Amino acid sequence: MKQQAVIKGLGFHVPERILTNQDLERLVETSDEWITTRTGIKTRHVISPGESLSDLTHGASLKALADAELPPEAITHILVATFSPESVIPSAACVLQDRLGLRGRMAQDISAACTGFLYALETARGLLALHPEAKILVCSGDVVTSRVNWEDRGTCVLFGDGCGAAVLTADDGGPRRTVLRDVALASDGALGDLLSVRGGGSGTIYKLGDPVGEEYFVQMKGREVFKHAVRSMTEVSRNLLERHGLTTDDVDVLLPHQANLRIIEAVGKKLGIPNERVFVNVHKYGNTSAASVPIALAEAVHGGFVQPGQRALLTAFGGGFTWAAALLDF
Ligand SMILES: CC(C)(COP(=O)(O)OP(=O)(O)OC[C@H]1O[C@@H](n2cnc3c(N)ncnc32)[C@H](O)[C@@H]1OP(=O)(O)O)[C@@H](O)C(=O)NCCC(=O)NCCS
Repeated sequence: MKQQAVIKGLGFHVPERILTNQDLERLVETSDEWITTRTGIKTRHVISPGESLSDLTHGASLKALADAELPPEAITHILVATFSPESVIPSAACVLQDRLGLRGRMAQDISAACTGFLYALETARGLLALHPEAKILVCSGDVVTSRVNWEDRGTCVLFGDGCGAAVLTADDGGPRRTVLRDVALASDGALGDLLSVRGGGSGTIYKLGDPVGEEYFVQMKGREVFKHAVRSMTEVSRNLLERHGLTTDDVDVLLPHQANLRIIEAVGKKLGIPNERVFVNVHKYGNTSAASVPIALAEAVHGGFVQPGQRALLTAFGGGFTWAAALLDF
């Protein structure tokens, strides 16, 4: 039988600085009432000058390692899921590897926007199948606010910064373990224009001194993204459950991507999972992109929302488009 991958430790890190809806009322023409009713978001954490993604990946990694009761030196592979590395080269994974003092380890970025954590979990599962002795650090985070146009009220109110981390190993049968039972991944690049950050890629050539245009920031057709997000997360979750002969009755807890409370509630309703079994923290952090699912997972586990013996269904959706679901047995 294929060896199972298990999550040994979880942690997350968000910047200290908090931006409230009232703060945003002073930046753009918006209101706490509009943001709350349309998104459920009240506050989001944002980096301060001098802070960058590696402060978040480093902070989250140390917490996940402590939770796993492993020293950094035990890590053999580093995966960082992000769309906002602090540089094109070196990668966010190499910057983190250096900060952790882990010279010589494999370090690789994964780009799948808000779905990044689930893409990274599946990659880690593949690595563990090849190298059962591996101890893999998965970091998943974004400084979304570095790519937000603060003059665009349709997007700037939605996002926040943060990072979540997990340590994965092959199942050693030990007592403290969460089994990563399966992951389903999907994508559709034909819909890429509905949610994009084109600037800074090689498709947009800049000359020295060129001004930064709108293409440098998150551009989104909100209504269409909303519909696709609900449909895709519902579909991939059902497909994954069916693959295992399960239904949503077999799921104790739903941990969805925290983009918007209305999307979360719509996915829960379509799957037939009542609100009290759906984890929500979007009001505190906004949409933290790749960090959203691992922060939700860490808070759900450490806060007791999910208990040993229970099963959680994780699902995410993001630019690309990418979407995914995962089953975890606690
Ligand atoms: C962005 C979103 C909250 C907008 O809600 P909506 O009900 O679709 O609103 P619309 O975009 O149709 O805009 C309605 C009106 O509100 C206005 N508006 C947009 N942002 C606003 C803001 N922050 N404050 C006040 N008004 C705002 C629009 O200009 C529009 O005004 P108009 O009717 O005069 O043109 C919603 O579409 C959404 O959540 N989409 C998914 C976004 C997402 O989660 N993306 C990430 C996925 S990983």
